Amino acid sequence: MRLDSRRDGAAASRLRLWDLPTRLFHWTLVVLVAIAFVSGFKGGNGMDIHGKAGIGIAGLLAFRLVWGFAGSTYARFASFVRGPAVIRTYLRGEWHGVGHNPLGALSVLALLGLLAFQVGTGLFGNDDIAFNGPLQALAGKDTSDLLTGLHRKSLWLLLALVGLHVAAIGYYARAKKENLVRPMITGWTDAPPEGARPASGGGVLAFLFAVAVGLLAACAASGAFLPPPPPPAASSPDW
Ligand code: HEM
Ligand code: HEM
Repeated sequence: MRLDSRRDGAAASRLRLWDLPTRLFHWTLVVLVAIAFVSGFKGGNGMDIHGKAGIGIAGLLAFRLVWGFAGSTYARFASFVRGPAVIRTYLRGEWHGVGHNPLGALSVLALLGLLAFQVGTGLFGNDDIAFNGPLQALAGKDTSDLLTGLHRKSLWLLLALVGLHVAAIGYYARAKKENLVRPMITGWTDAPPEGARPASGGGVLAFLFAVAVGLLAACAASGAFLPPPPPPAASSPDW
């Protein structure tokens, strides 16, 4: 059985572009990243939820990594990561493919990479008050402080990239009259180019495997596999 398979007899003018797992990944990611930003800037008692959102993002990123190889056609990295020649073709307005365009693919990779960096630095970070990232003990205080500094800088780059991402989608909607958001919600794109092939792959087993890797990554990020801290040294009473 295929997850989200294309219905036979569906209008040829429509194409199943984004499979359900890719869409669920995207919108869950948006919610968790928004929570991470709000709770991070709030600080204090917001840090607990900040850490949890970050661990969830770690799981999502691991899921997407696997889905980039095991997912359906247009979710696979091989279908949208292209070399400079294809990017030049796109810039000349001569690219007529389906899915992430060759330039958009770079921003997808940059977003995923920067999110991984943000999560990675956060897991080893500390807020100098009451919150330590779940893997902070592995880093030691100096390295943890260094990574926390990077975490606080890279978040601005991430914010800029998200802004660019949303602006690019707005540009497509207004200037090119192309609604990219609808396919990310419904999965379907209207009027695909001539010869676009139906998506295949991304079956239930592949999905379960990707979910298992995502869950494992979230557990690892939460520190669940770290040895328990040593018990506090028995102190002798003062008398
Ligand atoms: C925290 C904010 C966001 C992040 C981190 C983010 C991240 C991403 C990523 C990683 C992808 C690639 C999807 C994949 O192949 O797995 C993507 C695609 C996409 N995102 Fe977002 N996104 C954000 C906000 C939004 C918002 C607010 C919208 C709607 C206005 C949106 C609309 C889309 C669309 C339409 C695509 C597909 C683009 C295409 O057709 O090539 N995103 N986003
Ligand atoms: C994409 C995911 C993440 C985003 C967008 C994000 C964003 C932020 C933001 C906006 C701040 C506030 C910085 C400031 O006030 O200058 C912050 C601080 C912090 N974050 Fe994250 N974060 C993410 C993931 C994580 C994770 C997974 C952890 C650990 C579990 C973490 C741990 C921390 C710590 C310890 C601080 C406090 C830094 C300080 O007070 O100097 N973050 N983060």
